[in-house]
Amino acid sequence: MAAIIKIENLYKIYPVGKEKVVALGGINLEIPKGQICCILGTSGSGKSTLLNQLAGLEKPTKGRVLIGGVNVSALSEGQLAKFRQKNVGFIFQSYNLLQSYSALENVAMPLMFRGIGKGLRNRRAKVILKQVGLGKRMHHKPAQMSGGQQQRVGIARAFVAKPKIVFADEPTGNLDTKTTKEVMELMVRLCRKNNQTLVLVTHDRELALYADRIITLIDGKVVDDRENRSIAEISEEPSASSETAALPENTSASKALQSSQDDEMAQVVNALLPDDLQEQPKQPGKVVDEKPEEMEEKQEITDQEREDEEKQ
Ligand SMILES: Nc1ncnc2c1ncn2[C@@H]1O[C@H](COP(=O)(O)OP(=O)(O)O)[C@@H](O)[C@H]1O
Ligand SMILES: [Mg+2]
Repeated sequence: MAAIIKIENLYKIYPVGKEKVVALGGINLEIPKGQICCILGTSGSGKSTLLNQLAGLEKPTKGRVLIGGVNVSALSEGQLAKFRQKNVGFIFQSYNLLQSYSALENVAMPLMFRGIGKGLRNRRAKVILKQVGLGKRMHHKPAQMSGGQQQRVGIARAFVAKPKIVFADEPTGNLDTKTTKEVMELMVRLCRKNNQTLVLVTHDRELALYADRIITLIDGKVVDDRENRSIAEISEEPSASSETAALPENTSASKALQSSQDDEMAQVVNALLPDDLQEQPKQPGKVVDEKPEEMEEKQEITDQEREDEEKQ
């Protein structure tokens, strides 16, 4: 399979006073198209730094990142903004939805950046909102939805423009266990549908089990790289999943230090928005979904809508 992401001898070194922090210490990776790839590491291991280089948000100190053969490390800011709009979707721990806009408006936004007219972008946004089980929540604003519903909106927004690659940074960090499972299964399902590539960054070894491949990072270096069979697609013998990937020991598994990551990713969202739409995302509290209403209201797409989608 051809690599859609190629990381070549990638270094990121931050000067801190007289010291140097080696955040990435020479990474070489190839990620094939359609792979669901998890970058697993504890806080401080370099996950956010790596994601920033992949999305072209920061320039590497040394080495380069190629996406679909394009050297993103060499693009100008303007070229990068266009490149991201066309090729990349983002999913964030804190959802990063625009608070004053409805679910529908949030999801339609990436299509607006692509110059798609209002009628068509609303139709496409509605189709994907139904696919993520939010057919009855289209006109709700983020504050009127549970954490799980907000993240479904975030997922719909990331996938609506059918980007080649979706980056997800701790996408379930604010969700309870049951909602986490639903959200992860949804992401896997959407990726498979259009053969999209997912790069999932997390400290959570349970989440890693949803990936096709688990790459472990310690101190900015790849220390382990293994295939995995996604637990989203293993229907029988649920216990088999824990045997599938015997992961290396997590020395300091911690749920802390996520807020700094959120801040970084809020900047990513803002970088994607035109000036008049930029706003600081609110930090949501931990929201527990009381009932799986998303599942109940899951709707099939009507033939008419499918036709609309097909015509585009
Ligand atoms: N802008 C920066 N300036 C200095 N050091 C940084 C900067 N960003 C990250 N680092 C350091 O680089 C290392 C990796 O950080 P990061 O990529 O945020 O880790 P993770 O996302 O895995 O928690 C850490 O030691 C962190 O302190
Ligand atoms: Mg981080």
